[in-house]
Amino acid sequence: MHSRVAVVTGANGGVGLAIARRLLSQGAPGKDMKVVLACRNQSKAMAARAELLAEHPQATVDLVELDTSSVASVERAAAAIQSLCPAGIDLLFCNAGAMAIASLDVVSIVRGLLLHPVAFFESSEALRQKRGLVTADGLGEVFQTNVFGHYLLITRLQAIMSAGARIVWTGSAASRLDFKRSDYQHVWGGKAYESSKYIVDQIVEPLDKRLQPLGIRCVVAEPGNVCTNFLAGLGLPLFEYLVVAVFYFIRVVLGLARFTITADAGAVGPCYAALADNVDSRIKYHSHSTRAGQAYVEELPLESCKDTGSFLIARLDGLVKRFDSKKQQQS
Ligand SMILES: NC(=O)c1ccc[n+]([C@@H]2O[C@H](COP(=O)([O-])OP(=O)(O)OC[C@H]3O[C@@H](n4cnc5c(N)ncnc54)[C@H](OP(=O)(O)O)[C@@H]3O)[C@@H](O)[C@H]2O)c1
Repeated sequence: MHSRVAVVTGANGGVGLAIARRLLSQGAPGKDMKVVLACRNQSKAMAARAELLAEHPQATVDLVELDTSSVASVERAAAAIQSLCPAGIDLLFCNAGAMAIASLDVVSIVRGLLLHPVAFFESSEALRQKRGLVTADGLGEVFQTNVFGHYLLITRLQAIMSAGARIVWTGSAASRLDFKRSDYQHVWGGKAYESSKYIVDQIVEPLDKRLQPLGIRCVVAEPGNVCTNFLAGLGLPLFEYLVVAVFYFIRVVLGLARFTITADAGAVGPCYAALADNVDSRIKYHSHSTRAGQAYVEELPLESCKDTGSFLIARLDGLVKRFDSKKQQQS
């Protein structure tokens, strides 16, 4: 019997894999930790599992296929997790995330570098994002991937979450821009990623309030600027190396702590939010790093608006209901 069970979405690489690794190293001293990697790409997931088992041969690492941009996949994954974890779940990391990158935005790069270089490197201004992307379920693709897929997963798993369980969302600092209620799934705007992360910030506190009577807490953490596969969509490997070099320059020379750079450092905030004795859903748990690369957690107030949170929770509940009645009609 495992004394703690953690499910990590998007755990086949980057921050998600680093979260799983940290949990196995530090998760519950003296206790067994079982980790379920809930991933879209199964060959990458198998490689990630093999990597973790090579480092922790005694660990239990299970795989579940999950595409958060598909309601059917979330339903199948929730059922698979329930049968893999009969004793319940203690930690759920809503980490999978994507930005639909179209190209580099050269005009914004020049303007950003000239007018506000520090803020520029803390934002995603350099990237032009695709517009008009809708999934087979009829939802904004980035919204469904980053937000609704996880919201539905939580809805399906909350009955088997243990008293004292934690849900940790991986948020972003790039979450303040371009949210519009009239297009809350951000299908038509150019900042679907930021908008989705803004939604995460807004729903965490109301979700936490709703789940607290069940003994479940819900919080948001932020990995900092990490060099992961996130820019792979650009198809410019040389640019990715340049980004790594620029990030090191910014952290070492300018001393900007949010440039955590490695996935392992980026996982510090999410793991702290999952394992600390006390957490607060009005706080965002940021991974930061010293110039020398020592990672630590910075707790900063979450910028949220009650009214927007209630608006979004109502929309998300409405979507869950819509897909529930579709399922009933089909059965
Ligand atoms: N890197 C940063 O600087 C940074 C900063 C702030 C926040 N974040 C957040 O950190 C989280 C992890 O990103 P990362 O930096 O580790 O990037 P990454 O290396 O690209 O990892 C993203 C993970 O999400 C998965 N994913 C994407 N779309 C999915 C879908 N539809 N269904 C299931 N899984 C999906 C990917 O799986 P596949 O292999 O199948 O694509 C991958 O495992 C994301 O939520 C991201 O927004 C990152």
